[in-house]
Amino acid sequence: MIKVDISNVWGQLSLPDLLATEKEVAAAHAALTDHTGAGSDFHGWLDLPTTQETPEMHRIQEAADRIRANSDVFIVIGIGGSYLGPRAAIELLQGCNHNLGKGKGNPQVFFAGNGLSTRYWNELCRLLEGKDFSIAIISKSGTTTEPAIATRALRWMLERKYGTDGAKKRIYAITDPCKGALRQMAEEEGWETFVIPPDVGGRFSVLSPVGLLPMAVAGIDIRQVMAGAAEAKETYNLRSFENPVWLYAATRNLLYRNGKVMEIFESYEPSFKMFGGWWQQLFGESEGKDGKGIFPVSAEFTADLHSLGQMIQQGERNMFETMVRFAPPEHRYTIGGDYKNLDGLNYLEGKTLDFVDEQAFRGTVAAHVDGGVPVMVMDCGELNDAKVGEMFYFLELCCGVSAYMLGVNPFNQPGVEFYKRNMFHLLGKPGYEN
Ligand code: PA5
Repeated sequence: MIKVDISNVWGQLSLPDLLATEKEVAAAHAALTDHTGAGSDFHGWLDLPTTQETPEMHRIQEAADRIRANSDVFIVIGIGGSYLGPRAAIELLQGCNHNLGKGKGNPQVFFAGNGLSTRYWNELCRLLEGKDFSIAIISKSGTTTEPAIATRALRWMLERKYGTDGAKKRIYAITDPCKGALRQMAEEEGWETFVIPPDVGGRFSVLSPVGLLPMAVAGIDIRQVMAGAAEAKETYNLRSFENPVWLYAATRNLLYRNGKVMEIFESYEPSFKMFGGWWQQLFGESEGKDGKGIFPVSAEFTADLHSLGQMIQQGERNMFETMVRFAPPEHRYTIGGDYKNLDGLNYLEGKTLDFVDEQAFRGTVAAHVDGGVPVMVMDCGELNDAKVGEMFYFLELCCGVSAYMLGVNPFNQPGVEFYKRNMFHLLGKPGYEN
């Protein structure tokens, strides 16, 4: 079980404050699981985890095996919820440099369609030169501009390289079962498709083919990921403050009501950066509406202690932190001695790097709490494929419960349309003249 330690928030909240939210948290949790809360037509993610391999999972693994055998590079096209989850899982489990040394048999995985940068596009084209590649196009609506532009370009590159029939076997579409331009295109062109269930929204879709196909291509055991998520579904169904979902959701809402309007979600693992990005979208897009919401920021420690540290320690007192911890890996590094000791580091001789990391973590918590910043610690234990599945489900559940406590519908994102409308008008898209 993931543990949430709230012992470092007591300066800002009291136990009676927390216990007083019991009915509220219970109601928010029930609104999710009884499907009575706002946006309940998007509760499908609650039931995605499974311990049995479904026919869809089997087909995903077959497609992944094919891609692994015939491609040096696999490009995942998507943005927002159709992109962050798979990238988060791959980087967290395989490191930020996961593509180093990979090729056919274990392809490199790159991402496209998550922005409009020409420099990024040029770089992608350069790295595809002379390489065999396949693509997955992920878009629930099938109409999002960024992935649509990347799809058009990469599809043509595939057709030039392999001919129309050869390209067909290298294009996979993950989209709505019935609606949208991508569904229509895939059917007309004869691409293999996987379904994003209509009742699963983008940022809650990582345990659907959206996350599973890229993870399987990267060599992650998707059965383990799903088993971890399925276990989480049972474990975190508990209706009491013994449930870390309750502790996290209630504490962050209470802190928010006390003027802590920003949450910094941190880990001491550089490979956690994209997972932090996934969390940021999950909570930001789900909670930031109706003039409410905790502003989610993700950070990497100790690196960001040398950039954000000053602000956290002594800046405006409007934030709280959630520090994510993992058990150290089996293979550890021991710091050696140096007979000259010019750097003065001999006092660390014989200590392991993770021991130093642990003291940095403890020292940071103490300093920030002294500085008036409440800190929650989320201890995730050992990091493996199943754990990542558990973390995805756990945080999705936390988000649903927390957003219902906040009094917003977590499953829509009406605000995202505003920039799109302006952009379409400026681009001269038919229908957006005014
Ligand atoms: O969470 C969401 O719903 C969004 O972030 C979407 O995933 C994102 O806008 C991409 O949409 P689509 O998958 O329709 O291309």
